[in-house]
Amino acid sequence: MTREPIKTVIPAAGLGTRFLPATKAMPKEMLPVVDKPAIQYVVEEAVAAGSDDVLVVVGRNKNALANHFDRVTELEHTLERKGDASKLEKVMAASRLADIHFVRQGDPLGLGHAVLRARKHVGDETFAVLLGDDLIDARDVLLSRMIDVSRAESATVIALMEVEPSQIHLYGCAAVEETGEPDVVKVKYLVEKPAASDAPSNLAVIGRYVLKPEIFDVLEETGPGKGGEIQLTDALEALAADEQIAGPVLGVVFRGRRYDTGDRLDYLKSNLLLALDRDDLGAELGPWLKELAGQL
Ligand code: UTP
Repeated sequence: MTREPIKTVIPAAGLGTRFLPATKAMPKEMLPVVDKPAIQYVVEEAVAAGSDDVLVVVGRNKNALANHFDRVTELEHTLERKGDASKLEKVMAASRLADIHFVRQGDPLGLGHAVLRARKHVGDETFAVLLGDDLIDARDVLLSRMIDVSRAESATVIALMEVEPSQIHLYGCAAVEETGEPDVVKVKYLVEKPAASDAPSNLAVIGRYVLKPEIFDVLEETGPGKGGEIQLTDALEALAADEQIAGPVLGVVFRGRRYDTGDRLDYLKSNLLLALDRDDLGAELGPWLKELAGQL
C-alpha cells in the first residue's frame, strides 16, 4: 500500500551516561550494533515505512552523526581502486538512505524538549519519532502500522509491548481500554516506571511514536518533570487526558522482535541476537556460544 510519506525525527542529543566512557566523544546512537551504528538501523526502518525526510536532533557530539550520513570520497575512491564492491556498497548505503537534516538541542533538557526542537522542520504535519535505543527487526511490522492507525483514527499513536510484570518498573506503562482491533488499544493514562504492584497493565511504552502537530503546543506548556527534564510522556499524558486537544491517544501493541540497546547488558544481548541471525556471522557464532555456555 502506498501512503503519503511522513517526516521522521530521531532525537540523539542525550548524554548517554550509561555508556560512558564510550559516549564521551560520540552519541550513543553511533554505538555499533554488530557492524552498523544503531541510528542507521533506525533510519532504515523509517525509510522502509515510507519516510523520506529524517531530522536528527543532535547535541554536543554532532559531527560523528553528520559524518556517518555524508559521502566520504577518499574512502570511496580507495575501495573503488581496490575493486572492493561489497565494502564500497556498505560505505555508500548510509549516505543514500534519505534526505537527512540536523537540528541542535543546545542543552539536553529532556526528550520532550528535543522533540520540540523539530517544530520548525516538521511544520503542521503528523510525524514519527524514533528512538535509537529500541531496534525493531526489519522483518516485523510496526511503524507503518502505527502510521496507518494514526491516519485512520486521526490519533496520536504510541508503540506498546507486553513485558514481564517484574520488568515494568523500567518503562513507561499504559493504562488501556480495548478497541475493536486486536493490536490497537486506547490509552487512558500513562504511569512512568511504576512498581509491579502499582502498574495498571503490563504494556510498556517503547521508542516509537506517531505524533500530531498539536503536540508542539502541549510541549511548549510542559514544565520539567521526572529528573528535571521536559518529558515527552508528560505531553502524551496531557493529550490522553483531553481528547479535545488532538483526538485520542492509541497504542499499537507490537508482538515482533525488538532489540533493546539502551543499557549495557541489553546492548550486548542485542549484538549477539542480531549477529546470530546474520549469514556471515551466525554459522560460526552459534556453535561458539554453545561451547561457551557449556563452560559457564
Ligand atoms: P535516554 O534518557 O534514554 O538517553 O533518552 P540518555 O539520557 O542519553 O541516556 P542515559 O540514561 O544518560 O544513558 C531517550 C532518547 O532521547 C534522546 C536520547 O538521545 C535518546 O535517544 N534525548 C534525551 C535527547 O535527544 N535529548 C535529551 O535532552 C534527552
